[in-house]
Parts: sequence; C-alpha cells; structure tokens
Amino acid sequence: MTDKKIVLSGMRPTGKLHLGNFHGALKNWVSLQNNYNCFFFVADLHSLTTAYQQTENLAANSHDMLIDWLTAGLDPQKCTIFIQSDVPEVSELNTLLGMITPLGWLLRNPTYKEQLQELFKQKYAGQLDEKSLGEKLASIAGDEEISCFGFLGYPVLMATDILIQQASFVPVGKDQTAHLEIARDLMRRFEQIYGQQVFTEPKPLYTAVARVPGIDGRKMSKSYNNAISLGEDLDSVRKKVMTMFTDPNKKKATDPANPEGCVVYAFHKIYNPQAAKRCEECKAGALGCVACKKELFALMEPELTSFAARRKEIENDSAQLTQIVKAGKERARANAADTLSKVKKVMRITK
Ligand code: TRP
Repeated sequence: MTDKKIVLSGMRPTGKLHLGNFHGALKNWVSLQNNYNCFFFVADLHSLTTAYQQTENLAANSHDMLIDWLTAGLDPQKCTIFIQSDVPEVSELNTLLGMITPLGWLLRNPTYKEQLQELFKQKYAGQLDEKSLGEKLASIAGDEEISCFGFLGYPVLMATDILIQQASFVPVGKDQTAHLEIARDLMRRFEQIYGQQVFTEPKPLYTAVARVPGIDGRKMSKSYNNAISLGEDLDSVRKKVMTMFTDPNKKKATDPANPEGCVVYAFHKIYNPQAAKRCEECKAGALGCVACKKELFALMEPELTSFAARRKEIENDSAQLTQIVKAGKERARANAADTLSKVKKVMRITK
C-alpha cells in the first residue's frame, strides 16, 4: 500500500447519502481504493464554515455518512477512513498556511463569492424583494452571521487537508476546481518563501460520473425532497420510481416521446445496458412509461437490496465502526504529523 500514490478526498457531513452522492462520487472512490493509497475523510470542520450555529446534528451526520461509505463499499482494509477533526495536526497546519495566504486569493475566489450570495439569498428569502435584496447584497461582506473568517478561509483548510497528507490526486467535482487551484498555489508559495518543498503537488482527478436527477427532474437533493437514499427500503423506492418525472407530452403508452429530460431514462442510462434501445422504443411510441419504470426498478433492486442489508449490518455493529474510525485516525495522524514536523522545521518554528 505504501508505495502507491496518495489519493485524498472528503465530503462535508450531510447525514445519510442518496443515489446522487453514490453515483456522483462514492462509486468512484470505491474503485480508486484498489489502485491508490486512499484517504477519505468526513470534513466536519468544513461544515462549520457555514453551519456553525447548527452543530446539534454534526456528530450524528458524520456517523450516518460513515455508515453509507461502508455500505457503498469503502473497505477499511484498503483505504484510510477518518474524521477531519480527529486530526488536530490539520488545525495546526491550517494556522500556519493561513499566515502565508494572501487575502486577495480568498476574496477573489469565485466559489466564495457565489456561496456568499447563495447564503445571503437563503437568509433573506421571502423577506426582501429583488430590489432590496440587491441593495443588501452590496453590503454582503458586513453581514455578521454569514461573513466569517472561517468561511473566507475555506480553501486554506481544504488545501491543508490535501497538502498535509501528501496527496497526488484529489477526486473532486468540477465545482471544486478553484479550491484545488488555491491548494496548488499555496504549495508553490510555500517553496518560494522558505526555499524548500515539503508538499506533494496535488492534481485534480475528474472522473466522468453519472449525473443522477432527483425523482422530480431537479438536482437530487435532500432539501428538495426528491432523493432516493442509499439504504432506502424497497417499497419506498418502488413508489418513488413509479412517480418519477417523465415527458409530460406522453399521455398514453403508445405516444411517441422525448426521453431527454425524462428521469426514468436518466436512471436507465446507469442501470440498464439496454438503455439506448429503450430510448429508441420510447421515441417510437413502442414503450409505455409504466413498463419502463417497472423494468428500471427490477434493475435497481439487487443493488438496493444489498445496500439495505449491508447498511443494517453496519448499523448494528457500532463497535466495528468505532474501531474503523480509530484506526483511520491513527493512520491519518501519523501521516499528517510527519508533514507538519517538516513544515515546522522549514519555517524554523521548531529547533
Ligand atoms: N470542499 C469539498 C466539497 O465540498 C469537501 C472537501 C473538504 C474536500 N476538504 C477536501 C475535498 C479536501 C477534497 C479534498 O466537496
């Protein structure tokens, strides 16, 4: 395991995961663990950058997410699974890297600007009309609730996660590109300032992943109430599949329809090797939605059944989960401590 390159990725703890998370990221992690020395962690500190006022479910959400990682097939014999806040070296290096991070990099970060606006809109949704929202947006940086130091520093913490474990590859979505670029820039800046390089250059690993829509056709999200969760029971999933959004112009089974935008078709593309054929049949009016949905459910059933069983098994063995997280913490800490001590030597803050 040790001579393999390091892959690292994290997810903020949102609680139980859904099929969008599975097909969009987790499935890829599961396959990476066979070829790399993988570190996967629950980014609980990152969730505090926005949700610092709602910490009551943080630990439970981390726990639920870990169960789903194992359900999906992450294997603690093959990869290191840990919780970010279990590794205090991360917070220490975060402080040190913060010292060399130019403020402009953070203020210019497009993700920061977008998220700030998004949070602002959420906060004032329904309270302000468009015009006053616009006026308020101008004073966004002064909002005491949203505009916090930690939130601005999100990319520094993320760079720390990556650099401290010496990751060569970071599997992330395209939305994380700007953050990863800051990690790479910080790595270079460290060398420029202190004349020595202690970090491995991290590269993004974009993998073509399936985009899974929610059952109503919008992005799959717990907050939209359109998600199918990983361990969801079969009856509930069957009902959801039967109500999936389809081409509204198709009224009868024999009406020809357009499968683009049809949720059932998006799922067939993932679960059915015959998806292209079904697409043609649908266009020709030779396939009704009910039959199409039934076939889809039958294709999903084996995976769902094994997820549900595995989830139950893991849920019932909390001692095993505790052990996995403890072992992960030890491995992650040892690797992090190694990097941190080099950094402190190079920065001359240890003798
Ligand atoms: N920002 C990532 C996300 O929201 C989560 C994350 C935190 C992460 N630290 C990381 C991902 C380090 C990869 C590497 O998806």
